[in-house]
Amino acid sequence: MEFRGVRFFDPSPVRFHQQDQPNLGGIFMSINSETLVNHMNHEIAAIQPSDILAFNAEIANIPGIVRLTLGEPDFNTPEHVKQAAIESIEADESHYAPSNGTLALRTAAAEFLAAKYDVHYDPASEVIITAGATGGIYTALTSILNPGDEVLIPTPIFPLYIAIVKLSGATPVFMDTSDNGFVLSPDQLQTTLAAHPKTKAVVLNFPSNPTGVTYRHDDLKALAAVLADQPIFVLSDEIYSELTYGEPHESIANYLPTQTILLNGVSKSHAMTGWRIGIMCAPKAITAQLGKIHQFTVTSTTTNAQAAATEALKNGLDDAQVMKREYQERRDYLYDALNDLGFQSAKPEGAFYLFSKIPAGLPQNSMAFCRELAHEARVALIPGSSFGPGGEGYVRISYAASMADLKTAVTRLRTYVASKKQGA
Ligand SMILES: Cc1ncc(COP(=O)(O)O)c(C=O)c1O
Repeated sequence: MEFRGVRFFDPSPVRFHQQDQPNLGGIFMSINSETLVNHMNHEIAAIQPSDILAFNAEIANIPGIVRLTLGEPDFNTPEHVKQAAIESIEADESHYAPSNGTLALRTAAAEFLAAKYDVHYDPASEVIITAGATGGIYTALTSILNPGDEVLIPTPIFPLYIAIVKLSGATPVFMDTSDNGFVLSPDQLQTTLAAHPKTKAVVLNFPSNPTGVTYRHDDLKALAAVLADQPIFVLSDEIYSELTYGEPHESIANYLPTQTILLNGVSKSHAMTGWRIGIMCAPKAITAQLGKIHQFTVTSTTTNAQAAATEALKNGLDDAQVMKREYQERRDYLYDALNDLGFQSAKPEGAFYLFSKIPAGLPQNSMAFCRELAHEARVALIPGSSFGPGGEGYVRISYAASMADLKTAVTRLRTYVASKKQGA
């Protein structure tokens, strides 16, 4: 039926409403929203909401639960950084920043990366300030990919890349590294590449979320040798570069400067997750293209947050050191305590996660195990299955939590494991 040219639908079932209806209060009930959902980008249906956030929300209301779930530093942003933001607000810096970021921040970011990792980018043409590293990952992948392309992804891995690859109509090709200590070997990369001629990009993340392993000089050189001279991008997410517990971090951009899109930021190095400032660097010609997508998606990131990040990167070169010492102490405690309980893990060399094998005799389905543990022992961990092939049978344990919480979690785990052994 039409009323002044508008057809009416019944909002509950998906069919036309046959009666003539007046327009009440100017609201036209023209089509059922469920019908419209089916008209949305079909790739969205292929994307699952983040398992990590869903599981974290699911167990949040269990009274007294200790959550070792999120990748969120339990430190506050350094005082000098907060002051810079306050001054920026008081100076009425409330206008749009240049789309790629203020030159002051791009310069501070380029100088930070040069001083720390000996990688060199021109602040004026090779650096973009993104909405967290996440914004950079989105911009980079959507700028690179066409439907039908393939992206090689070593797993287990932080799942965000997978969702964006799918959203772009491209196909993730997983390289399960669980048989090789969670390290991608040059052979595995070479073999996968040979079998996937449509490969447009390779994603690397090191130090790794969720395993904490990282790549050293020789690993990077060998991986770079496989990729050199091929028309393939390397999307290298090095957001945990300041949190390494052995050798200092090295970037793959040292070895493949022309092919690398480098992602970093202040979220983990300066405990600034909520400020949403990331850094994306690439050669000039590539940055010019990336800048278009960044411009048309976020315009620019928050001006005052950029002032804070400028201070962090310029005058807080070693702000991560205090946090790192604490994380390392917690890592050592947790690694030993979990090994004693039968949870074996690769010793993390960076980031703030342990990726531990669920001992035999306990539920081997990682989601079932984490649910049981949350309810029976009041300890929340993230199921390894959230991180792609190779993750099932493992759990991710974040030690970005106080030592007191870690000790409580270990005591509860000990009681839980003992009760399961008794019941067996
Ligand atoms: C590997 C990895 N990359 C990127 C991010 C997101 O960083 P940001 O908060 O700067 O967007 C995270 C957050 O946990 C991460 O673990």
